[in-house]
Amino acid sequence: MVRLILDSSMGSYPVVIGTNIQRELRAAITRLDPTGAAIITDSNVRPWAGKVAKAIKRAGLKTSIHVVPAGERSKSMTHLQDVLAFLERQQIDRGGCVIAVGGGTVGDLAGFAASVWQRGVRLVAVPTTLLAMVDSSIGGKTGVNGGRSKNAIGTFWQPAAVISDLACIETLPQRNYREAFAEVVKYAVAMDRGLIEELDKEHDRLLEADRSMLERVVFRCVAAKALVVAKDERESGPRAILNYGHTAGHALEAASGFRVSHGRAVAFGMRVAAAIALATGLCSKRLVETQDALLTAYGLPDRVPHVDPKRVMAAISRDKKARRGKVAWVMPRRLGHAEVGHSVPSAVVRRVITKALA
Ligand SMILES: NC(=O)c1ccc[n+]([C@@H]2O[C@H](COP(=O)([O-])OP(=O)(O)OC[C@H]3O[C@@H](n4cnc5c(N)ncnc54)[C@H](O)[C@@H]3O)[C@@H](O)[C@H]2O)c1
Ligand SMILES: [Zn+2]
Repeated sequence: MVRLILDSSMGSYPVVIGTNIQRELRAAITRLDPTGAAIITDSNVRPWAGKVAKAIKRAGLKTSIHVVPAGERSKSMTHLQDVLAFLERQQIDRGGCVIAVGGGTVGDLAGFAASVWQRGVRLVAVPTTLLAMVDSSIGGKTGVNGGRSKNAIGTFWQPAAVISDLACIETLPQRNYREAFAEVVKYAVAMDRGLIEELDKEHDRLLEADRSMLERVVFRCVAAKALVVAKDERESGPRAILNYGHTAGHALEAASGFRVSHGRAVAFGMRVAAAIALATGLCSKRLVETQDALLTAYGLPDRVPHVDPKRVMAAISRDKKARRGKVAWVMPRRLGHAEVGHSVPSAVVRRVITKALA
């Protein structure tokens, strides 16, 4: 088991990563000493939420569970309203807490609810997907989707504790597990050279979800994300490094009508970013090849479903409009180190994207 203490504008909080860590959860709740606790979960992770409820009851606290349907569609104003109505029924007051048991979907929804209920109650995150453990449970972004735009409505709200139980990974669909490695490779290439070596060497054990290896990897990713979030909690500058691979990635996701999953799209986006960096003399061929091999090894191959490059370019320029005319690319410079704020001639972007989609 590993434990980090992260600092935030809302105070410091523990992140615990381990296996069967109900005891840690109980200790965290006891320390928070809430007046009440409400668990939010989704239909696929209900059994894990049951375990959490049991652990908490042992700490002498009554809880009940609100279940939303599994899937991204639960990140909506309608479901937010249901969650808030549940908190009202449970009489969660300002001293109470919300416990999110699930992946990024539940985490974003429950986190948002916690941030607005009674003008903000404490949030305990119990992430159950690898993506939520390495990415969405850290950093304090919460929210739901607008009618047409993803994550359009939300808040920054830091958790009071994050308890990542690797036992949850056991029931996670293989596809979701693999896709999370896009973000893991992102941290490695953009921020942590040692992690690249670890991913390379321990590939077999990680693909089998070996828990001691996972513990180390989740720890490194959390540490990498926490470091930039601490410098820039509200995303005004340096935090943009976390967007490595996401400029072309988001564009591909949107241009494909979300047929291409986030993980696949980010892998594509990192390949595009590295190819641009190579073409503009910002990185070496070795970097491009190392990243490519890593992604492929983790089940994120070079192929994506066919999408018209023009549509991807159009999606990038919509993004550009949103940022007043400039796309700030995150460019890899050397293994384990990327830089934010690069502008790239659009002819180069077009050439690289056309080739990547050929
Ligand atoms: N807030 C942030 O900073 C941030 C960062 C990255 C992603 N996100 C958001 O996270 C969401 C994606 O997160 P995700 O990949 O965790 O998806 P998810 O929460 O939708 O989970 C994926 C699927 O796996 C199921 N599941 C979850 N844990 C399981 C388990 N242990 N066993 C069996 N099934 C399980 C879920 O029910 C769901 O069907 C997106 O909405 C994205 O916008 C937020
Ligand atoms: Zn991402």
